[in-house]
Amino acid sequence: MSAPAALKLFQTRPVKSAGLALAGALLFTLLLAAQAERPAAPVQLTLNENPFGPSPLVAPALREGIRDLYRYTSVEEAAALTARLAAKEGVAPELIVLGDLLEPLGLQLSLRGGPGGEFIYSVPGYPALVDAAARAGGVVVGVPLNDRLENDLPALAARVTPRTRAVFLVNPHNPSGTVSDPAKLAAFIRGVSQRALVIVDEAYLEFSDDFAGRTAVALTRAGENVLVYRTFAKAYGLAGLPLGYAVAPRAVADFLRQQGLGGAREQNRLALAAAAASLRDAGYLARVHDAVAAERTQWHAVLDGLKLRHTDSQANFVYFDAGRPHAEVAAALQASGVLVGRAFPPYATWVCITIGLPPDNVRAQAALRQALGK
Ligand SMILES: Cc1ncc(COP(=O)(O)O)c(C=O)c1O
Repeated sequence: MSAPAALKLFQTRPVKSAGLALAGALLFTLLLAAQAERPAAPVQLTLNENPFGPSPLVAPALREGIRDLYRYTSVEEAAALTARLAAKEGVAPELIVLGDLLEPLGLQLSLRGGPGGEFIYSVPGYPALVDAAARAGGVVVGVPLNDRLENDLPALAARVTPRTRAVFLVNPHNPSGTVSDPAKLAAFIRGVSQRALVIVDEAYLEFSDDFAGRTAVALTRAGENVLVYRTFAKAYGLAGLPLGYAVAPRAVADFLRQQGLGGAREQNRLALAAAAASLRDAGYLARVHDAVAAERTQWHAVLDGLKLRHTDSQANFVYFDAGRPHAEVAAALQASGVLVGRAFPPYATWVCITIGLPPDNVRAQAALRQALGK
């Protein structure tokens, strides 16, 4: 995509924000132009970042925020963002806990009740929470994905015991990108959450075909024992200024606050400013969603053309069986200037590629054809 085309894609709609949006869009254009002048740099399609970048409203908000950088984050600032998120999620502000919470959540749940608590998750998967739990004496129980590389809900439920502290699901899953059927997921949560806390990490759900129909927040709102984690690091393009939050059952939210999490002092002021600006850009997520979905469709068509088995990814990455060892494929792609995701054992021949900007995807697809000799 040319810089002007990207600019058009990310123009903001609200009239009031037009000046800010223009300044932000100009910066975005300059960044793209600067990238274009560095053709030799490898294309990094490794960590599921959103290369379309943050809303154009973010840069001006950060410039303004820098003026007050000598100040700590105030209770009022944290409360304002919390209120905004609570309204967006349709819950009371007391159910929102701000912060990059996955690791502290694993740690605190593991500490509560002492060592030996079980943490169930899908393998392969995103291990931040369970690794943190293990550091405090938690026992990690890995459950293989099913044959469509989805969270295997019946198998996960079957592993719950009286020792289970939490069941951790990522939906869409990382690295497979698959989503669980909403009705089956809801039934799973209703059943399992009677026996243990269910945690659903929806880090990639904004990229999916049906955010509203798939989010588990409706169940938290209805009083089920399920915590939903979201992050501004992915779809909102703010991986370098990370902020996440939980929508948690009241008792869990209170417990996390008692442990010192979620407070104003815990938060980066600029991250709060960036998140608030992103939320003000009403059309931003839809533009990101559509741009990523179009590229994902193209990626899947390329993989089909190469006759490579792939998952039905609903995230901003694709996952496919290259038919030869991951290290071999990754090295061949790297030689063509394309960096891809790490291996996820036991899927020794599968490769995860983050969806990049359109020209980067074209380059990666050409490199893949070359690497596979097709
Ligand atoms: C499933 C999942 N959750 C969370 C994150 C990161 O979220 P945060 O930056 O808010 O810790 C990632 C990043 O790769 C992820 O894949």
